[in-house]
Amino acid sequence: MEFFIDTANLEEIQEIAQWGILRGVTTNPSLIAKEGRDFRTVVQEITDLVDGPISAEVNSYDAKSMIEEGRELASIHKNIVVKIPMTEEGLKAVSVLSKDGIKTNVTLIFSLNQALLAANSGATFVSPFIGRIDDIGYDGLACIEEIVDAFITHGIETRIIAASIRNILHVNQSALLGCDIATIPYKVFKQMAHHPLTDKGIESFQKDWEQHTKKVENK
Ligand code: G3P
Repeated sequence: MEFFIDTANLEEIQEIAQWGILRGVTTNPSLIAKEGRDFRTVVQEITDLVDGPISAEVNSYDAKSMIEEGRELASIHKNIVVKIPMTEEGLKAVSVLSKDGIKTNVTLIFSLNQALLAANSGATFVSPFIGRIDDIGYDGLACIEEIVDAFITHGIETRIIAASIRNILHVNQSALLGCDIATIPYKVFKQMAHHPLTDKGIESFQKDWEQHTKKVENK
């Protein structure tokens, strides 16, 4: 499973990119707003940091405006993927943009039906939101499982991005279920890299090594 980072914060992207594990970036209007900077500039700067799909979301909701905005976003850089919300208007926009050869990521997906519609309209990626499904008392991972199974059964090539990831269990289960990509917040990446037994192990290795070098020096 590939890893994207779900943030518009350049420092976060830069830090995780140095691990050599980042294959792409996803943003959304809330994440861009959090940075308080110009949308186009932020997106452009992200393309300099990661050489892979960079999802930039449209901020309009009728097909005509989404298509115009999508074309403008795609002109920023070859790696831009236009993120479009899963609505009837969104499907119309995806269908036109995909015929233009523009890559799209259909976001705010909460069911298999929506994922199937998005894939059939020509979406390059679909983004089912695990955490937000869990938030309302349903099972976000079960939704991922259904989408993965149906796409495999029907040979659908649209790639599945597990989104709205809140913890390491979401990442591990998405991998086990066969999801193509997980877009992960910075905080969860940090959790993934750490384990208390690793820290404890390093601590005792360091202690033993110090004692050993002291003994050797005193001989
Ligand atoms: O980028 C979309 C998604 O990952 C947002 O996650 O935590 O706001 O539900 P969250």
